Amino acid sequence: MKIKKVAIIGAGLMGHGIAQVAAQVAGYEVHLKDIKQEFLDKGMGRIKWSLGKLVEKEKLTQDDVDAVLRKIHPTLDMKTAVGEADIVIEAAPEKLQLKQTLFEAFDEFAPDHAILASNTSSISINTIAEATKQPDKVVGMHFFNPPQIMRLVEIIRGEKTSDETVAAVVEVSQKMGKETVLCKKDVPGFIVNRVLIPALLDAIRLVQDDVASLEDIDKAIQLGLNWPMGPIRLLDYVGLDTTLSITEVFQKGLDEHRYETPALLEKMVKEGKLGRKTKQGFYDW
Ligand code: 3HC
Repeated sequence: MKIKKVAIIGAGLMGHGIAQVAAQVAGYEVHLKDIKQEFLDKGMGRIKWSLGKLVEKEKLTQDDVDAVLRKIHPTLDMKTAVGEADIVIEAAPEKLQLKQTLFEAFDEFAPDHAILASNTSSISINTIAEATKQPDKVVGMHFFNPPQIMRLVEIIRGEKTSDETVAAVVEVSQKMGKETVLCKKDVPGFIVNRVLIPALLDAIRLVQDDVASLEDIDKAIQLGLNWPMGPIRLLDYVGLDTTLSITEVFQKGLDEHRYETPALLEKMVKEGKLGRKTKQGFYDW
């Protein structure tokens, strides 16, 4: 399917950045929807700031910026946003009911061929898909903050997502200049947050138990593990509310397994696959 028109639902922390890369890198026509004019204005302001940075670095010219901005059409109206979209990417707050209501509206107003993607970081794709009459078109398309810089899109397959839908979102992501990974099962946290969130929660426990200062926890992980920013700063960056929503999804879906030794870890240690030092771990070194 040839994708030309994209609708982004939500102009916030993630939505504005996704809209920007869709227009700037992929060259799509983008309708950017939010529920209040002030949210649209703020999102467009952030896009202009980000494009300005790229001009400063001589990665874009002012003419390029004008061309990108001409491709982004802010709107408050759902029908205008999704009415001609080939793909809808929802980037609204992490609330299941809100997402289900939005997906019902996409079902009603978007063309039949449109792909219905969610940038959710934790909510089940299957549950979102239940709100539509075409669950084969529903897929997870998880960007990372800031979407303008981070190179990954995690694609999440729901039980009913079709191969065509997965192939189309891989293509769209690549056109936006991103690498993709496929999460084959609709599990809490998918791949990245399943690994990240427990680490962030432990960083919070270190703070709570006054084990070290905020700065030292960040410094330890930044220098000790070479993370670009420490976990506490990252928590602030991704948003504590988002982190809490993901944690609650974990508690419903994963809870008591959180601190168990994974059987695979035990098995690999028994087999002497200790990682780099034995030249074999998860990867071959
Ligand atoms: N648009 C354009 N340029 C931007 C930008 C944006 N939105 N944001 C940052 N930049 C540029 C800055 O201007 C700067 O350019 P310069 O090097 O030429 O000055 C460059 O990127 C680096 O930015 P800063 O100097 O402000 O700060 P950092 O060096 O710390 O880089 C960062 C910022 C790229 C965000 C880096 O700290 C980083 O990679 N942090 C980790 C981010 C991360 O882990 N994200 C994933 C979070 S998890 C998630 O999103 C999943 C969710 O579901 C929870």
